[in-house]
Amino acid sequence: MRAAVQHGYGTALAVEERPLPEPGPGQVLVRVEAAGVSRGAWHLAVGKPYAVRLALGLRRPRNPVPGLEVTGRVAAVGAEVTQWSVGDAVMGMGRATFAEHALADAKALVARPDDLDVAEAAGMTDPGSTAHQALHRHARIGAGERVLVIGASGAVGSFAVLFAVAAGAEVVGVASEGKADFVRGLGAKDVIDYRREAIDARGGGYDVVLDIAGNRSVRELRRVLALKGRLVIVGGEDGGPLLGGLGRQVRARLLGLFTGQRMTGMLARPTAAAIEELLAVHRAGGLAPVVTRRYSLDEAGQALHDLEAGRVTGKTVVVL
Ligand SMILES: NC(=O)c1ccc[n+]([C@@H]2O[C@H](COP(=O)([O-])OP(=O)(O)OC[C@H]3O[C@@H](n4cnc5c(N)ncnc54)[C@H](OP(=O)(O)O)[C@@H]3O)[C@@H](O)[C@H]2O)c1
Repeated sequence: MRAAVQHGYGTALAVEERPLPEPGPGQVLVRVEAAGVSRGAWHLAVGKPYAVRLALGLRRPRNPVPGLEVTGRVAAVGAEVTQWSVGDAVMGMGRATFAEHALADAKALVARPDDLDVAEAAGMTDPGSTAHQALHRHARIGAGERVLVIGASGAVGSFAVLFAVAAGAEVVGVASEGKADFVRGLGAKDVIDYRREAIDARGGGYDVVLDIAGNRSVRELRRVLALKGRLVIVGGEDGGPLLGGLGRQVRARLLGLFTGQRMTGMLARPTAAAIEELLAVHRAGGLAPVVTRRYSLDEAGQALHDLEAGRVTGKTVVVL
């Protein structure tokens, strides 16, 4: 099979022939139709923060094919797999998905609905479930609340804007100027350009702040939060080469113990149950497309590079 292969950490990928993986017990071999281009896949490909190399390989990644989100057709099933048969359309999380075939845990997949385009299916799993869990599980968002989404033009942020608006909240997004119209198109009432303005440019007192990007200090984030507001730290790049800003999530959690404001970090679990929740939102008509670009397998390295360079709006996917 053909796969996008890396020979060292980075975004340089070359399409090469690789042996077809064999599904082990509890695993499924998926004939890939599309694979999401995610920050998670990028982190693993470039080996940053550096602490991840302890697990992935010190000099180069032991698994040389990037990609985590997947949709496609079941090509083979391993022992103990009873819920899937060859030919089933599936979507969810896999590994080494920038390839014609990829392995996934049978339990990490759900059936792909007929009316869902393969690019949409591959592009919703990770950012969609992250945004959904951030808003509904951690922030417990309510109708009529004011929500600030920092990083609103990215993959997680665009789903967050959609879901917050669908929950009846009033949303202000933080993004670069060139992507402000995209964020408004998702339903945000206003957009703050983080290159020219501070996050309090439209006032403070937000009931919910989702910090998806930028690594602002907990103190700065607290300043725009209502007295009983909820801060959820989802992510943020440039937080230090070794641990990537993990300390911020810990600080927020600790400080939250001593104030009326609820502050927490999160690690999303894109489980099958979480993906089913997203599909319920889709069935109810609440999932507008956020996929803005489709790359071929030959362009998979370019896709990761574009993400790294901030050239991506919304979500991108590799379509085979
Ligand atoms: N906790 C979890 O479970 C979880 C799950 C998934 C992702 N994440 C993390 O969440 C973060 C975002 O992921 P993503 O997939 O949405 O990334 P992405 O698609 O690359 O989006 C990044 C966003 O950040 C914005 N941004 C960049 N610098 C900023 C700054 N200084 N201030 C405010 N906004 C800024 C970008 O705006 P412009 O493009 O307009 O410049 C864009 O909207 C990453 O750190 C990722 O690792 C965490």
